[in-house]
Amino acid sequence: MLDRARNALNRWVLDHVPTDWVDYVVSNTMTEFNRWANGFMWTYEHQWLLEQVREEAPGVKTFVFLPNQHWRGFTPGQHAPVHVTIDGQRHQRSYSLGRQPRGRVSITVKRQAQGKVSNWLHDEMKPGQCLTVEPPRGRFVHQGQSKLLLLCAGSGVTPGHAMVSHWMGLPSGERPDVQVMLQFHSQPDVIGAKDWRTWRQAGLRVTTCLSQAPSEPVPDGVSTRLDAAQLRQHVSDVAERDVYLCGPEGFMQQMINDLQALGVDARRIHTERFTAPTQCAAQAAAQAVPLSDLEGAEVVFSHLNTSIALTQADQGKTLLQLAQARGIALESGCQQGACGTCKLTLHEGAVSGNTLGSAVYLCTAYPASRAVVLGA
Ligand SMILES: Cc1cc2nc3c(=O)[nH]c(=O)nc-3n(C[C@H](O)[C@H](O)[C@H](O)COP(=O)(O)OP(=O)(O)OC[C@H]3O[C@@H](n4cnc5c(N)ncnc54)[C@H](O)[C@@H]3O)c2cc1C
Ligand code: FES
Repeated sequence: MLDRARNALNRWVLDHVPTDWVDYVVSNTMTEFNRWANGFMWTYEHQWLLEQVREEAPGVKTFVFLPNQHWRGFTPGQHAPVHVTIDGQRHQRSYSLGRQPRGRVSITVKRQAQGKVSNWLHDEMKPGQCLTVEPPRGRFVHQGQSKLLLLCAGSGVTPGHAMVSHWMGLPSGERPDVQVMLQFHSQPDVIGAKDWRTWRQAGLRVTTCLSQAPSEPVPDGVSTRLDAAQLRQHVSDVAERDVYLCGPEGFMQQMINDLQALGVDARRIHTERFTAPTQCAAQAAAQAVPLSDLEGAEVVFSHLNTSIALTQADQGKTLLQLAQARGIALESGCQQGACGTCKLTLHEGAVSGNTLGSAVYLCTAYPASRAVVLGA
C-alpha cells in the first residue's frame, strides 16, 4: 500500500517536474530519513521503477521502466549494466536499451537455459519493483555513415531495433539509407514483429529470414537461413554499406566471413557481442606473442593521438593493461572479454586473443606485430 503510494508520487513528480529541479531538491535534502522513506529518488544511484512487462516472443519479455532523475538518456545501440541480488549475491548483466514514450526506457530479455539473471527477471521482477543500473555505455552506435546494413539475429536484434526506432522518428530526409536483415528461428520468435511491420509499411527495407521453414508463406519473409546467397540477393550494394552486426557468436562469425567474401572491408563491420567468447582469458594469455619478439614495438591509439613502445616489463600484459600502465584512459568494464566496453577497431598490424572481425577486446587481447594501430 505504502509502496504503491510512493511509486505513484515518484511517477507524478518525474512526469511533471524538470529532472534538474528534482535533482537540486533531492541533493539538498539527502537525509537518512529521506533515503529510508524514498530510496528511489533520495539516492546517488540510477534507479529504474518497473511499470510494465510485455511478452515479446516465446521466452522473451520487454520490461518498461521509469528511470529516476539521474538518467540522462542514451544513444541508440548502447547498453546498461543492471544489478540484481539473488539469494544474497549481487549479479551484474548488461542489456541493450530501448527508448519508450514519455521518457521511459526498456530492456528486452531472452530467457537463457540455466541463466541466473534472465530467469530471475522473467520470474521475479514485477511492476512496482526497482532495479539498480549504471549509466549507459557502449560503442555500438551509429557513427554517422550514410549507407548502412543492419544484420541481427535472435535477442541480438535489440540494439538494431533501438537504432531503427530512432531513425524512423526522424524526418525522411534526415534518415540514413538503411537496410535491415533479421534472422530468427520461426515467425513467432520475431522480436518487435509489430514495429518491423509498421516500419516496412513506412518504407524501410526489412527482410526477415527464418531458419525453420514456415508451413505457410510468410509475408515479407524468406524461409532460409541468412547467408552469403541471401545477402547477395537482397543487398546488391553490400560492399558500399557499413554493417552493424549483433547476434549469437556462430551467426556473427559466419556473417563476418560472408561479408568479407562479398568485398566488405573488415573495418566497416561494427559488432556487438552478448556473451564472452568460448575461449577464456587464460587461453588468450597463452597466445600472447613472446615479448622478446616485440620489444620496442609500437601500439598506436589513433583516436587518442597517442602511442606506446613496449619494454621487457610488458610481458604478458593485455592491450588494456599496457595502456593503463602508461596512464592512458581507456574505457573498460568486465575485464573478461564479455561486455565490449573496451573494444576498439584494428586498423593496422596484428593482435592475438579476443577479437571478432576487426574488433579487438583490449582486456583480453595482446599485441602480435611490431606495429599495431587501434582506433575508435
Ligand atoms: C553489451 C551487451 C548487451 C546485451 N544485451 C542483451 C539484450 O538486449 N537482451 C538479452 O537477452 N541479453 C543481452 N545481453 C546478455 C545478458 O547480459 C546476459 O548475459 C544474459 O541475459 C544471460 O544472463 P544469465 O544470468 O541469465 O545467464 P548466466 O547465468 O550468465 O549464464 C547461464 C548460461 O547461459 C549461457 N548464456 C548466457 N548468455 C547467453 C546468450 N546471450 N546466448 C546464449 N547463451 C548464453 C552461458 O554461457 C551459460 O551457460 C547483453 C550482453 C552484453 C554484453
Ligand atoms: S570486454 Fe568488458 S572490459 Fe573488455
